[in-house]
Order: sequence, then structure tokens, then C-alpha cells
Amino acid sequence: MILELDDVTVTFTAGPPLRRIHLDAMKHVSLSVAEGETLGLVGESGSGKTTTSRVALGLHRPTSGAVRFDGRPFPRRRRELAGRMQAVLQHPHWSLNPRMRVGQSVAEPLTVLGRPAGDNRGSGAPELMGTVTEMLEHVGLEASFAGRYPHELSGGQRQRVSIARALVTRPGFIVFDEAVSALDVSVQVQILNLIKDLQAEYGFSALFISHDLGAVRYVADRIAVMRAGEIVETADTATFYAAPAHEYSKQLLEAL
Ligand SMILES: Nc1ncnc2c1ncn2[C@@H]1O[C@H](COP(=O)(O)OP(=O)(O)OP(=O)(O)O)[C@@H](O)[C@H]1O
Ligand SMILES: [Mg+2]
Repeated sequence: MILELDDVTVTFTAGPPLRRIHLDAMKHVSLSVAEGETLGLVGESGSGKTTTSRVALGLHRPTSGAVRFDGRPFPRRRRELAGRMQAVLQHPHWSLNPRMRVGQSVAEPLTVLGRPAGDNRGSGAPELMGTVTEMLEHVGLEASFAGRYPHELSGGQRQRVSIARALVTRPGFIVFDEAVSALDVSVQVQILNLIKDLQAEYGFSALFISHDLGAVRYVADRIAVMRAGEIVETADTATFYAAPAHEYSKQLLEAL
């Protein structure tokens, strides 16, 4: 298992001191993602999907429960995890700096990381540009895109850049949080195909979050259904779509 969440609860506290509100965004969530596997996480807005991804990425510490990545427990040093896990978010402007050229955005995770000993990828500017060009081509963009700014790209192209940026450190695990939700259906299919192709090539594991059960079906090996902070059902994708076990899953599928 590359990722394991064991009985994770996350409680948020909000409101003024004397009228504090406690909200369990995750309640006793246990899930795992195997090497090379894509786990689809579905559920309505506010069910706790993004919170789950932030816990998985080590960006939010659980109120209780344990997280293991690569078999070792959190908390860990960010730097140690940085290149091993990446995220592609719904809006590219959350992951792409609007004032940075595409090439610089794709290179940044490598330059921030520095290189582990013995890894010559991206050493020095020409090699770095070579790596960037290679990554852009892998996501279906010409090398000339490196000189453009995000606002000069279509939504689909921006998402391709976000994916190139996520892949450049050769992560073992990538979170896609509503990564195709803002795109037209035809572009969604292109990006989903790209994700599948890249996964076959690079072998990363993924947590694919979406409220769109059609998109999840396309990429996920297994599905976990979340409702009000709880996982109500986990099943193989084929089993889930053929015969969902939980009443709430049936409702979700009927709404599709
Ligand atoms: N930093 C925070 N402080 C307080 N409450 C929060 C915080 N982040 C999330 N929440 C609450 O936790 C619950 C789960 O939020 P989360 O963002 O994980 O849902 P989600 O399933 O990703 O929803 P969506 O599909 O709309 O993205 C929500 O009720 C939300 O308001
Ligand atoms: Mg969310």
C-alpha cells in the first residue's frame, strides 16, 4: 500500500469563542490505495472529499487516527514527501502562478526540490529546459508552450500543464481533486484519457476525486463513496456500477 488512512477523524472548529461549532469533516475514515491503483472518491459537496485529500497529502493533520505513506507514518518532513506526492486541482490557477511562464511552472517543483544525490535530471538550465519540453510533449503540448502564460491557454491546455507540473518529480501518488470538473465534456474525455495513458506509462497511484460518477468510472479501479464525513461503501468499480450496495450509492447512480 502506498497510502493508508486508519480511522481518521478531522474536526473543524469555527465561530466565535462562546458559540463554537464543531464539525466532523471526516469521521473514522479508513481507506487505502495500492501501488499503481486509482481510488475514486465520490460524494456530494461538503461530504469531506477535499479534506480527505489534504490529510492524504500531509497538508492537514487528523484530529485522531493515523496516516501512512510508503508504509511510514505521518507526520514527516514536508521536504521528504514533496516530490513523492503531487496534486492536480479543479482550477489551474490554484496550481499555476498566473505571472509565471508555463515552462517555469513545470520546472518549479524540481527546482524547489533540489535533486536527490545521483539524479542528473534537471541539473543546470539546459537540462531543466529539456525536462520541461519532454514533460510538455508527454501531456500533448508543443515545446513552444513553455514560453506562454496561463491566460494564453485554453482550460484543457492549462490542465495539461498542471498535469505536467505534477508529473515532473515522478511522484508515486497524485491527487486529482475535481481535475476535470470545470472542463467541457469533450475536453474532459481527452484529459481522462491522458491521465490513463500517463498512469500506464509512469505507474503512479492516484486518488481521483469527483462528484461526477461518469468520470470516476472511467479512471478508477475502486470506488469509495463518502457521505457527511463517512465512507459508506468501497467496491471495485465494475461491482459498484453494476450493483451498488449502499442506498446512498444507488441514489447517486440514479441521479447520474
Ligand atoms: N478549514 C476549514 N474550516 C472549517 N470547516 C471546514 C474547513 N475545510 C472544510 N470545512 C468543512 O468540512 C466539510 C467538508 O469539506 P470538504 O471541502 O472536504 O468537502 P468536499 O467533499 O470536498 O466538497 P466539494 O465537493 O464541494 O468540494 C464541509 O462542511 C466544509 O464546510
Ligand atoms: Mg472539494
